[in-house]
Amino acid sequence: MSNINAGIIGTGHSYPDGVLTNADLEKIVDTSDEWITSRTGIKQRHKAADNEYTSQFGSKAALQAIERAGLTPEDVDIIVCATTTPDQIMPSTGALIQAQIGAKNAAGMDVFAACSGFIYGVTMVESMIRTGQIRYALVIGAEVLTKYVDYTDRSTCVIFGDGAGAAVLGPVAENKGILATKIRSDGRYEEQLYAPGGGTKLGTTHETIDNREHFFKMKGNELFKVAVRSMADISAEMLAKAGYTVDDVDIVIPHQANQRITDAVASRLGVPEEKVYSNIAYHGNTSSASIPIALDECIEQGKVKEGSLVLMTAFGGGVTWGGTLVRF
Ligand code: UT7
Repeated sequence: MSNINAGIIGTGHSYPDGVLTNADLEKIVDTSDEWITSRTGIKQRHKAADNEYTSQFGSKAALQAIERAGLTPEDVDIIVCATTTPDQIMPSTGALIQAQIGAKNAAGMDVFAACSGFIYGVTMVESMIRTGQIRYALVIGAEVLTKYVDYTDRSTCVIFGDGAGAAVLGPVAENKGILATKIRSDGRYEEQLYAPGGGTKLGTTHETIDNREHFFKMKGNELFKVAVRSMADISAEMLAKAGYTVDDVDIVIPHQANQRITDAVASRLGVPEEKVYSNIAYHGNTSSASIPIALDECIEQGKVKEGSLVLMTAFGGGVTWGGTLVRF
C-alpha cells in the first residue's frame, strides 16, 4: 500500500458583506457591548442576507483555495463540505458546490460534525491521499449560522456568525504535511448544543415552529468546560503522537468559540498568547468555518509559512472534537 504524505497546499475564505455589531444586537435582545466583549471577545460577526446561502460562500472559498494550490476545479477528486447549516437537507452542500465551481471529476459530500467538521474532513481525506486512493481533496467549512440562531435567546444569538473557509489537500514532500490527526465524539452530550426540530424525530410542524425548536439551543456554560478540556487534551495527544512538544509549535489555531475558551486552552497547554491565533472579535463563532478561515488569514498575514508547525484543534456540538498537526 502506498504511503504518500498529505498536506494542505492551498487555502481560501469568504464571508458575507453584511455585519452585525454588538451595538446592533443591543437593539434586538437584552444585552450590551460590554457583556459580549468581556464574556466572549466578540465585537462583530458577519451575517448573510436573506438571499444568501451556505454553498455560495463555500464555493468562493473553494475557488480561491484551488487557485492558490495551482490547480483547476477539474483536478479535485473529492469535495468534503463540513456544515451544520446546509443549503437544504438534500442534495448535500458538497454536491451543490461541486456544480457551482465546475469540479466535474469530484465526488461531493457533507460532513455533519458541527464546529469540528473541518478537522473531521481533513482526517478523512488524509488517509485517502496517503493510501493513493485519491490525489486532491477539497475540504470546506461553510456556515450560515445566523439563519439557525434564535434572536430571542440572548445566550446563543450573540456568538454565532457566517462565513466559509476551504483547503486543498494533496501529496507533499516526505518531511511535510499532516503529522498527526484525530477525531472524537460523545453523543451523550447531545442536548448541550442542538436543534431539536426539523428532523425525523420531531419533524416540522406548526407546533415545533411555534416552540422555536428548529433553532439552535445551547447550554453554553456546561459546554465551556468540556470544550477547554477536549481541545487541550487532544492537542497534547497529537503532539505526543508526532514526537513534538508545545515549544516546537509555531502557531495554534483553535476553533474560535469564545476568546475565554481560547485563552483557557492556551493556558492548559502552556502555549504563550502570541502563539495562539484569534479572529473572534471580527467573525464571532463560525462553527466549521472558523479554523479554515483562521488558517487562511494566518497564511495571508505570513504567520503560517513554509516550514511552520501548525496545531489546529476544534470542539463542537455532538459533542465532537479533534486535532490536526501540520508541517507546512
Ligand atoms: O462552538 C462550539 C460550541 N459552543 C461553545 O463552545 C460555547 C461555549 N460557551 C460560551 O461561549 C459561553 O458559555 C457563553 C458566551 C455562551 C455564555 O457565557 P457565560 O459566561 O457562560 O454566561 P452564562 O450562560 O453563565 O450566564 C451568566 C449570566 C446569566 O445571568 P444571571 O443568571 O447570572 O443573572 C445570563 O442570563 O449572563 C447572562 N447572559 C447575558 N447577559 C447579557 C447570558 N447571555 C447574555 C447576554 N447579554 N448576551
